[in-house]
Amino acid sequence: MKYLTGGVEPPGDKSISHRYAMLAAMAEGTSELRHFAAAADCRSTLDCMSALGASVKVDKDTVRVIGRGSQGLKSSWRALDAGNSGTTIRLLTGILAGQDFTSKLSGDASLQKRPMGRVVSPLRQMGADIRAREDNFAPLEIRAAKLRGIHYKMPMASAQVKSAVLLAGLFAEGLTSVTEPARTRDHTELALEEFGVNVEKHGSLIQIQGAGSNGGGKLQGRSLDVPGDISSAVFFIAAASMFPDSNLLIHNVGLNPTRTAILDVFASMGASLQVVSLRSAHGEVVGDLSVKGTSLKGGVVEKEQIPLVIDELPMLAALGPYTEEGIEIRGAAELRVKESDRIAALAENLRRMGATVDERPDGLRVEGRKAGKLRGAEIDPRDDHRIAMAFAVAGLAAEGDTTIRDADCAGVSYPTFYEDLNRVAER
Ligand code: S3P
Repeated sequence: MKYLTGGVEPPGDKSISHRYAMLAAMAEGTSELRHFAAAADCRSTLDCMSALGASVKVDKDTVRVIGRGSQGLKSSWRALDAGNSGTTIRLLTGILAGQDFTSKLSGDASLQKRPMGRVVSPLRQMGADIRAREDNFAPLEIRAAKLRGIHYKMPMASAQVKSAVLLAGLFAEGLTSVTEPARTRDHTELALEEFGVNVEKHGSLIQIQGAGSNGGGKLQGRSLDVPGDISSAVFFIAAASMFPDSNLLIHNVGLNPTRTAILDVFASMGASLQVVSLRSAHGEVVGDLSVKGTSLKGGVVEKEQIPLVIDELPMLAALGPYTEEGIEIRGAAELRVKESDRIAALAENLRRMGATVDERPDGLRVEGRKAGKLRGAEIDPRDDHRIAMAFAVAGLAAEGDTTIRDADCAGVSYPTFYEDLNRVAER
């Protein structure tokens, strides 16, 4: 590999696509969602919303949804399948908790190992009737219940938990509010506003009014463009940064301030990044990113930064051996309950490539360039899309070939990743 050149556009943002699809299904009238995420995860959401009665038509990357109105979702005759998607199951649990029918909700083997107590607990405080395997895992059974608004002081910084509570709040009597211990992505709040729901924000407090009270909770169908996913763009930022002669333009990237902390991390490591145009789309910020190759210094990502860069950490860690000082990630135990145990997956595969890694309960330290060059290896991504893509990038600058086992798991967020990477790679 010599360098990366030309232009690339990441697929539509996964987080935003999930939310637009769910809200469109509960809105009055038709919504048109353009540049909708190609991610298998978002297909899972569309399939669930269709099983709950919404009409969903997919034409390339445009999705047309005829909604059922906020009180119109119907019981699904079959169990709902969230596949590999944590966002689908956790947000939908919030929505289903306030319906007048019973739902069963599950997912693949990985999703069935991920904790659901974090959403079940606040929803039960609202009056939800939810059964979970071992009280914490899918499959979930969510029975009909009348919800009441609560104030939920979140014990953890999680956009999925915040969103589950706010979405349940749409169906609750009175006001529902949450306070976050640290800022997390705010796509749910922005999307609710786009669909016509009044969301009040006071510092770290976010509040909405339920359907039971004064016409709160009503949604109107919308025509929306989904920005490109910065969590997919990061693989190109990393790949371009690794080769000094790279000059890459990444088009149409979502630059919502609750998602751009990763750009600050790259900048602090000496990356050459520039936002070359900025515009706004439906409350979201969008721009193009110019990335040039440089020598990356490396550095430490601290606990306080973790919630805002959580999905980008696999790529960052896998870059460690190409930096001067290496990369250390602290206070990120949450990485162990993602699509895979990402700390273990990173440590194992980096070592396979010859890197020096200190694996810790809540993070890892990956030594930099001085510890030696990486060599190609066979990578086991543990069926985790972000691990597969991170090592495909790490493999570009290694000596010898790298093979990613079951590389198609990248399709969970980015089905055309390898083609797109090949297109901008000059060999
Ligand atoms: C997401 C929130 C984050 C993130 C996930 C998507 C979302 O999870 O890791 O990939 O769309 O709300 P947590 O809320 O568990 O931190």
